[in-house]
Order: sequence, then C-alpha cells, then structure tokens
Amino acid sequence: MNLTLKIWRQKNAQDKGKLVDYKISDIEGHMSFLEMMDILNESLVAKGEEPVAFDHDCREGICGTCSMYINGEAHGPDRGITTCQLHMRMFNDGDTIYIEPFRAKAFPVIKDLIVDRTAFERIQQAGGYISVNTSGNTQDANAIPIPKKDADLSMDAAACIGCGACVASCKNSSAMLFVSAKVSQFALLPQGKIEAADRVLNMVRQMDEEGFGNCTNTGACEVECPKGISLDNIARMNREYLKASI
Ligand code: SF4
Ligand code: FES
Repeated sequence: MNLTLKIWRQKNAQDKGKLVDYKISDIEGHMSFLEMMDILNESLVAKGEEPVAFDHDCREGICGTCSMYINGEAHGPDRGITTCQLHMRMFNDGDTIYIEPFRAKAFPVIKDLIVDRTAFERIQQAGGYISVNTSGNTQDANAIPIPKKDADLSMDAAACIGCGACVASCKNSSAMLFVSAKVSQFALLPQGKIEAADRVLNMVRQMDEEGFGNCTNTGACEVECPKGISLDNIARMNREYLKASI
C-alpha cells in the first residue's frame, strides 16, 4: 500500500502545531498502525528529520497509552481495539490518513501525538482504591461470598485501561465513562462498600476540577471504548453519587 499521512506536528505545549504531509510506501496489511508509524519514523531519522512523537508501551491493548485520533476516530476505524491493535488492512492503497492527538482541555498536548493524561491519575488517586489491613494472617479467598453476577460486572468495569478514548470521542470531553468504570468496579463488591461514599464524591469532584465536560448521553464514549465499558456504569455512578450526597 502507498499512503499519504497527514500528521499533527507540535513541538511542545506552547507551539501552535499543524498538519504535515508524509508519503509512505510498501505498507503491508498485516502491519499494525504503530509498526507503520515506526517505518515512517525510521525514514525520518535516516533523512535527519525529527521523528513523530507518539505514546506506546505494551503494543497489545493493555496499557492504554497509544492515544491517536485517526481519521476522526479515537484509535481509528476498527471497533473494540486500541491503536496498537489496529491493522493496516483497514486502509486501502492510495488512502489519505489523518493522524491527530486526542483533543480535550484536560489532556493538553505535550508533543506531536502525545497528550498529558495525568488528570486520570489524579482522579484515581482521589478514590480509585480500597484500604485493607495487611497485617496478620492472609484471609481465606472464599471468606467473603460475592454473587457471580456482581463479580462479572465488577470485572467488566475493571477492564477499563484508562486510555482516554471516551474523553476524546465525547463532544463535551466528558470523563464520565472512565470515572464510572473506576467507581463501579468497587461499588459492586463488598470490599468497596466501606469507602464508597467518599470514593464517588472525591472522584467526581476531582473530575470536575480537571476540566472534563458533563455527560449528555450521546453514547459516543461507549462506541469508541476499546474495552466495551457500558454506559450502565454511568447510571450506577450517578446512583452512588446521589446516595452519597444525601
Ligand atoms: S472507559 Fe473505555 S475508552 Fe474510557 S478510559 Fe476506560 S477503556 Fe478507555
Ligand atoms: S500500546 Fe498499550 S494499549 Fe496500545
């Protein structure tokens, strides 16, 4: 495949940034999107040009760092995947591909395609944990019975990898899907009940302080989420918030 890439280049947070055109050839359908970016960067380095900065780590859909906005969609045109899992067979010979960073006020661009998502870390620190006493004997794993349905729903919520695609795809840059997944994974389990009220109040407060927008139920986040996090989690978080508020 021969492709034209229009890539967002921005030197630093202060730079205005712009789309720059690149031609790339001999791309195979089995390559991942990040492998295609690697080939581009090798050619830029060989020419003495600055390679395109982009975030990546695991390259297998786990770490959630590969935050690219491809042809107007977070993680590109496929469903239920991250950018590192996107195959070039989703594109055709001669295509022009627009590659931009995730755009949200709370995710400022650091360089090129890399955005600062430490806002998510601060939301997690505000309540995304449980406190346990680790002294004494280890508790038997079966000591606290948990209904299978609750365990499954909690695991589904815990699948969130904090990638930020929900924020990038929301017209309000809302982080409700992410925060609700983090609230739900504990709210569904007995271990999470003790700090439940503080957790939801603190995490929602931090979310608002970071500058994320409100949810208006368009559902774009659920469609673009690579881990299939359900909007039901937002309803659950709203119930938890209401309970904690009164
Ligand atoms: S809810 Fe989905 S899209 Fe949002 S951060 Fe978690 S995994 Fe990513
Ligand atoms: S590089 Fe880890 S999810 Fe893509």
